[in-house]
Amino acid sequence: MSESGRLRIAIQKSGRLSKESMKLLKSCGVKFNINEQRLIAHSDNMPIDLLRVRDDDIPGLVMDGVVDLGFIGENVLEEEQLERQQLDKPATCQKLRQLDFGACRLSLAVPTEFSYDSAASLEGLRIATSYPNLLRRYMQEKGISYRDCMLKGSVEVAPRAGLADGICDLVSTGATLEANGLYETEVIYRSTACLIQSEQEQTPAKQALIDKLLSRINSVTQARE
Ligand code: PRP
Ligand code: ZN
Ligand code: MG
Repeated sequence: MSESGRLRIAIQKSGRLSKESMKLLKSCGVKFNINEQRLIAHSDNMPIDLLRVRDDDIPGLVMDGVVDLGFIGENVLEEEQLERQQLDKPATCQKLRQLDFGACRLSLAVPTEFSYDSAASLEGLRIATSYPNLLRRYMQEKGISYRDCMLKGSVEVAPRAGLADGICDLVSTGATLEANGLYETEVIYRSTACLIQSEQEQTPAKQALIDKLLSRINSVTQARE
């Protein structure tokens, strides 16, 4: 395979999905060494290049066909899809597998002193989030209007800082909410990691490699059950 014929896979550089994504690839027999300083890691034994990027960039890279495959949380994928639909940008990809790691939920949370009955308690209030599209879809379904406070990070400190009344953020263990005097009131989206493929037509050789990886992922995940 030529250099350009190498399969490109995007994985999270650091964060909750990165270790598990790399572990899965390794147990599928893909050998590679990570150099922390480098964006790209070449596999030693297969025509595969790993692109180590921010998780939020992964769906777009796949939908634009810059990379062939990506490991990503469904929450980030669906948020990006909703965003791109509004911008008339390519917003589709194939979901190849739902994976058995990266489970989390996107939830509404409010300060402990807030008396909360239902999502309607947030009517007219300001909600901080990094997932404005998933939040809007949920609130529209419920017919509740609210005000946005868009933050890419540190969402959990927004209420205490006086920036917002509540938040809509990812919860895994709940430790972040507790440490910030917040409690979870409503789960709006449940997510796990998944493997996605670009809609781009693949060469037969690349598609064969993708199929091989998929069948190995099947064996590995079945053995884990
Ligand atoms: C999420 C979320 C919280 C934390 C919650 O961030 O934004 O900071 O995890 O986890 P906990 O309930 O176990 O405390 P994430 O790790 O996804 O990183 P990111 O927001 O930088 O992408
Ligand atoms: Zn992120
Ligand atoms: Mg975070």
